[in-house]
Amino acid sequence: MTTTPQSAQPATLLLTGATGFLGGAIMARLIEGDQWDNTLFLVRAATPEEGLARLTAVLRRFEVPERLLWRFSLSQVICGDLGNVDDYINDERLAKVTHVINCAAIASFGKNPLIWATNVEGTENFATLLHRRAKLQRFVHVGTAMVCGPEATTPVHEAVDPGQDISHLVEYTESKIEAERRLRAIPGLPLVVARPSIVVGHSRLGCKASGSIFWVFRMALAMGCFTCDFDEKIDVIPVDYCADALLLLARKPELAHDLYHLSAGTDCASSFREIDAAIAEATGRPRHDHYRRLPFDALAAMSPRFQDYFGPCNKRIMLRAIRTYGDFAELGLLFDASRLRGEGMPPPPRFNTYAGLCAATSKGSTIAEQMTVDFK
Ligand SMILES: NC(=O)c1ccc[n+]([C@@H]2O[C@H](COP(=O)([O-])OP(=O)(O)OC[C@H]3O[C@@H](n4cnc5c(N)ncnc54)[C@H](OP(=O)(O)O)[C@@H]3O)[C@@H](O)[C@H]2O)c1
Repeated sequence: MTTTPQSAQPATLLLTGATGFLGGAIMARLIEGDQWDNTLFLVRAATPEEGLARLTAVLRRFEVPERLLWRFSLSQVICGDLGNVDDYINDERLAKVTHVINCAAIASFGKNPLIWATNVEGTENFATLLHRRAKLQRFVHVGTAMVCGPEATTPVHEAVDPGQDISHLVEYTESKIEAERRLRAIPGLPLVVARPSIVVGHSRLGCKASGSIFWVFRMALAMGCFTCDFDEKIDVIPVDYCADALLLLARKPELAHDLYHLSAGTDCASSFREIDAAIAEATGRPRHDHYRRLPFDALAAMSPRFQDYFGPCNKRIMLRAIRTYGDFAELGLLFDASRLRGEGMPPPPRFNTYAGLCAATSKGSTIAEQMTVDFK
């Protein structure tokens, strides 16, 4: 069991990655609440003013009312990078930190030369030095459910250790499991790992804050075929649910485990057919009745018509995206959600209940434009 001692002092939360999708959703939730004044943000910026401007822009993307933005103060902004912890670790504000939600990472399926340095070495160094500097009660690290590897059997349970020797489809997932191992090896770090499944859209805002991964659904439905079955269930959660779950794991004094999936699970995952129906209804097009499951080579053979399906795009980049996300879709993995539900988190809304909203809020961007966020 993981327990945080109750302290007389108000807890101080440090959030990393708040300019990103998950961290932004957490920040948008926090600014509505009582803990806001005791929250610090690690952000990449040359000055606190620049950091504040970056964070405020994210809050606007999450449609946080202007009347709440005045709550933000420069004193909450710590400028820094996971790669240069020595430069800011002696900031006196960090000594007061009791809780951390670490969302910062290079979350890309592409080939980014900084993936290992950031997600593994930078993350380990950040946690090690912060643990020495502050009296941490909880360090929630955001991993990814996809660390289970392509050989996993569905539904995937947290208790199953994928082991050291599994293959990985992309360097990103390999870096994320290695980060977990290194954090577990830090003596006394009060670590809780949260592994989200696939985070798509926001249950109220659709894709207004980010179109991350939603373009994969657009792409598959535009072609009328992809690497998964039409009746296959896909484990998607909205970003606001993910944010609430991370806050619960950071704040709850006692947790039964130190590793959690944040997922739809077998009961709340929607099938591709249900998602198509929701998007068809929202956009006024007919539902697919000739969808086909096809292997990558057959999809690649359709590349001469990519512009007809996707609008303006670079064929080579589209092929790479189909290859990478198609490999994951082919696995058809669902992630057991009972640990998180056991902590009192309600089930998430099913993706088909807000997929239409995601489609409606994606109208202003092409598939190629929307996918850039996932290929940093
Ligand atoms: N989105 C999903 O579906 C999903 C699913 C499972 C797990 N996750 C995990 O959730 C976490 C957040 O993902 P996301 O989708 O929110 O990613 P994101 O939108 O790309 O945001 C990444 C955040 O990390 C920050 N960052 C990157 N490199 C950094 C560095 N060297 N130092 C400090 N900050 C750095 C970015 O700051 P800048 O703005 O300065 O670049 C940004 O704030 C990641 O750990 C990811 O592995 C995401």
